[in-house]
Amino acid sequence: MSQTEKILRKEQFDRDDLVKLLNTDQQERLLLFKKSEEVKQSFVGNKVYFRGLIEFSNRCTKNCMYCGVRAGNTKVIRYDLTDDEVLEAARFAHQQRFASIVIQSGEKSTASFTARIETLLKKIHEATRHELHVTLSLGEQSESTYRRWREAGAQRYLLRIEVSNPELYKKLHPDNGKHDYNRRLEALHTLKSLGYQLGTGVMIGLPFQSPGDLADDLLFMQALDIDMAGMGPYIEHHDTPLYRYRDLLLPRKDRFYLSLKMVALLRIMMKNINIAATTAMQSIDPQGREKAIKVGANVIMPNLTPLKYRENYLLYQDKPCIDEEAEQCRGCLEARIHMAGAEIAWGEWGDSDHYQKRQAGVPETD
Ligand code: 5AD
Ligand code: SF4
Ligand code: FES
Repeated sequence: MSQTEKILRKEQFDRDDLVKLLNTDQQERLLLFKKSEEVKQSFVGNKVYFRGLIEFSNRCTKNCMYCGVRAGNTKVIRYDLTDDEVLEAARFAHQQRFASIVIQSGEKSTASFTARIETLLKKIHEATRHELHVTLSLGEQSESTYRRWREAGAQRYLLRIEVSNPELYKKLHPDNGKHDYNRRLEALHTLKSLGYQLGTGVMIGLPFQSPGDLADDLLFMQALDIDMAGMGPYIEHHDTPLYRYRDLLLPRKDRFYLSLKMVALLRIMMKNINIAATTAMQSIDPQGREKAIKVGANVIMPNLTPLKYRENYLLYQDKPCIDEEAEQCRGCLEARIHMAGAEIAWGEWGDSDHYQKRQAGVPETD
C-alpha cells in the first residue's frame, strides 16, 4: 500500500498527513480525489446548489495587497447597484428557482451602508415571498450591524480568513490599522454566535505561502467548525502591490491542482458542509468549477450582477463570465454541471447539513 493510501485510511489527518497529501504527484493525487468523491457522494450526494451572486458594490475602504478593487487602485471605476437592480437580480434568482442569493461587496461600515443593506434585505424578502435564503459577504462589521442584518433576514455570512497564519496575514495586508487578523477572527466568532450559517475560506498559492500554511488553513476551518467554505487559487492582478512578487508564484496549473486538493481534503475532513466551486478555479482551467464539483464541491454561484458593472469587479485578472448575461451564465453552468454528472437542486435552500445538525445539537459522527 502506498503512503498516500495509508494516510487516506486514517480517521483524522494531522498537519504532516495534510502536507503529504497536498504534495501528492499526478498519480497519487487521483487516490485522494477518488476518496473525496466517495465521501461527497455518501454525505452530501450528487446535488449542486445554485447561489445567485450579486456584486453589490466595488467600493472598499480596505487595501488588501492582492485585490484588484482595493481602495488604492485608482484605475477602477467605482459603482453601487441601485435598489431596483438588486431587487431585479433577486427576482430573477427566485423565478429561476435558485432558492438562494449572495450579496457581496467591498468593505464599508458607515451607518448609511448598514441601514441600506438592512432595508434591502427586507425588500428582497417581501419581493420573493420569503422564499430566498440570503448570504451576505460584506466584510468585517460590528456585532450590532451583524445582528441587525441577521434580524432583517440574512441567514448566512461569508467572511474568508484569507490565510490562517497571522504572520502571513500581516505580509498580505497593510499595517494601517484597518487590517487586523484578530479582529477578523473575532468577527467570525461573532457571526457564529448570532446564529448565522458561517462560511470562511482561503486563497491558495499565494506568494510566501507554504504547504504547511495550507495544512494549517484546513485545520483552522475544521477547528472553527464552519458550515460553508469558499476557496480558490490566488490569481495575480497587475494593479496591486503583490504583483511584484509574481516570480515567486507556482505556475497557474499547479495552483489550480493545489486548490482542487484543498477542496478534496476539506470534503474528507468536514463531510457534510457546503463547499463552493469558486469562479477563480475557472479562471485557470475552463472546466475548473466542474472539476471542483467532481472532487467535493456542491455549491456554485452564477453571476447575477448587471452586465455593465461586471468589468469593474475584477478582484483578479482573467475573471470569467464578464460578458455573459445572467440568463446565459445560468444556461452555461447548467450544462457544465450536467457534464460533471451532477444534478442541480432547483428550488432547494440547500442549508448545509452540518449547520442543521449543529442547530439541533446533534453530535458529529464520523
Ligand atoms: N486572487 C484570488 N482571489 C482573490 N480575492 C481577492 N483578490 C484575489 C486574487 N487576486 C478573493 C478574496 C476575497 C474574495 C472576495 O475574493 O479571498 O475574500
Ligand atoms: Fe476590499 Fe475585499 Fe478586496 Fe480586501 S479583498 S480590498 S476587503 S474587496
Ligand atoms: Fe458564466 Fe459560463 S459560467 S458564462
